[in-house]
Amino acid sequence: MIDLLLGLQWGDEGKGKIVDVLTKNYDIIARFQGGPNAGHTLIFDGNKHVLHTFPSGIFHKTALNIVGNGVVIDPVIFKNELDNLSKYNIDFKTKLLISRKAHVILPTHRLLDAASEKMKGKGKIGSTLKGIGPTYMDKTGRNGFRIGDLEFKNWQTKYKNLTKKHLKILDFYDVNLDYNLEDLESEFFNAIEILRTLTFIDSEEYINNAIANGKTILAEGAQGSLLDIDFGTYPFVTSSNTTAAGACTGLGVAPNKIGEVFGIFKAYITRVGSGPFPTELFDEDGKTMARVGHEFGATTGRPRRCGWLDLVALKYAVQINGVTQLNMMKGDVLSGFEKLKICTSYNYKGEEITYFPYNIEEENTSVNYTEISGWQEDLTSMTNADQLPKNLKDYVIFIENFVGVPVKIVSVGPDRKQTIMV
Ligand code: IMP
Repeated sequence: MIDLLLGLQWGDEGKGKIVDVLTKNYDIIARFQGGPNAGHTLIFDGNKHVLHTFPSGIFHKTALNIVGNGVVIDPVIFKNELDNLSKYNIDFKTKLLISRKAHVILPTHRLLDAASEKMKGKGKIGSTLKGIGPTYMDKTGRNGFRIGDLEFKNWQTKYKNLTKKHLKILDFYDVNLDYNLEDLESEFFNAIEILRTLTFIDSEEYINNAIANGKTILAEGAQGSLLDIDFGTYPFVTSSNTTAAGACTGLGVAPNKIGEVFGIFKAYITRVGSGPFPTELFDEDGKTMARVGHEFGATTGRPRRCGWLDLVALKYAVQINGVTQLNMMKGDVLSGFEKLKICTSYNYKGEEITYFPYNIEEENTSVNYTEISGWQEDLTSMTNADQLPKNLKDYVIFIENFVGVPVKIVSVGPDRKQTIMV
C-alpha cells in the first residue's frame, strides 16, 4: 500500500515537517508532482533545512527517496540541494532515485515564466518564477525534455532545438528581460553532469514492485489542494495536480493501492502569490499571525497573506482528496487570541453556500464566521494531548465535526519534537 500526505490549503502547511516525523514508519518516500517551487522546511537538532526537490525523508538512514515522474526538476537547484547536504554524508547514488519520466526545467523555461508574468502585469499569478508553468506546458504539449533523454547521446541536440523554440516564443513577449543565456547554460550543463552521476529509474516499475513486496511508501505532496491545476483557484494555481489523483499519475500507482491519506492544514490559513482569499485579514490579527508564524515563503522569501481558517475550503479539499486523517499545524501561533473566527459558509452571488464554487473572486464572495474562544497558553513545550488547552480541543472538535474526519496530529512548533499525537 501507499499512503499519501497532502496539503489542504494554498501550500506551506508544514508537509515537510510531518513527512520527516512519519518517515520512520516508511521504507520509501516519494515526491509525485511540483518542482523547486516547493520549499519544505525541516527543523531538527537545532538545524533548519529547506528542501525544494528532494523528498523530506532524505535525512533518515533507512528511507529510500524517489523523485517521481510527475515532478519537474531544475538541475541547477538540484545541484545546490546536493551541495547543501554534502556535510551529511548521504549516499545519494543509492538513497535518491530519479524517475526517467520526470521532466527537466531548462534555463529558458525560467525565462518564459518571467516573461509571461511580466506580460500579465497586475493580473500576474505571483509565480515563484522557477519555470514550473512552461515546463508542464511543454510536457502536456508533448515537447518536454525528460530525465531519460539524458541517457541518449544526442540529448544536447534535443536541448538546443527546444531552447531555440523557447527563444522564438520569448521574442513574441513584449517585455524586457535581462539575462545572459551563456551564463545560464554554463551553470545548467555543469549541473546536468552532476545530475547524471545519480541513479535514474523506471520509477513506476520500481514502486509497484516495492508495493508487491510489502514495502511501505509515503507519497509526499507539494503545494496545496487550493493550488491544484483543476480544483484550485484557477488561474491562480500551480501547473500540476497537487491532489490525491496527482499521486496516481505522478508515481504510476493505481487508486486501489492507496491506504491512508494524511491531510495537512494550518490552524489558520495563508497564501503566497496572487489570487482570491475569502478569509484574508488586513488588520492586526493578520499581522500577528504573520509575525508569530514567521509567514515568509521558504522558496521566495515573500511575505505570506494570512487569514482565519476556512472550513468551506478545507471540507472541499478533504472531499477531493479522500482524506482519512487530518494533521493540524501551527496551533501555537494562535495562542493569545481571545476569540478565533472560523469560516463556515460563503455568501456567493446572493446565496449562502457551504461548498467551494467555480469562482471565489472578492466581488462574488463574502464569508460567514463562527466565533470560538481562543487559548492563551504557550503550547510550544507541550508534549502530549492531555496538556493541550480545552479551548484548543474544542477548536479541533469543531473542525472534525464540520469536515467529518479526525485530527490525529497537532503540531505545536516547527521542530520534529513539537508534534503531539492526539
Ligand atoms: P508556480 O507554481 O511557481 O508557477 O506558482 C503558482 C502559484 O502557486 C503562485 O501563487 C505561487 O506563490 C504558488 N506556489 C507555488 N509553489 C508553492 C509552494 O510550495 N507553497 C506555496 N505556494 C506555492
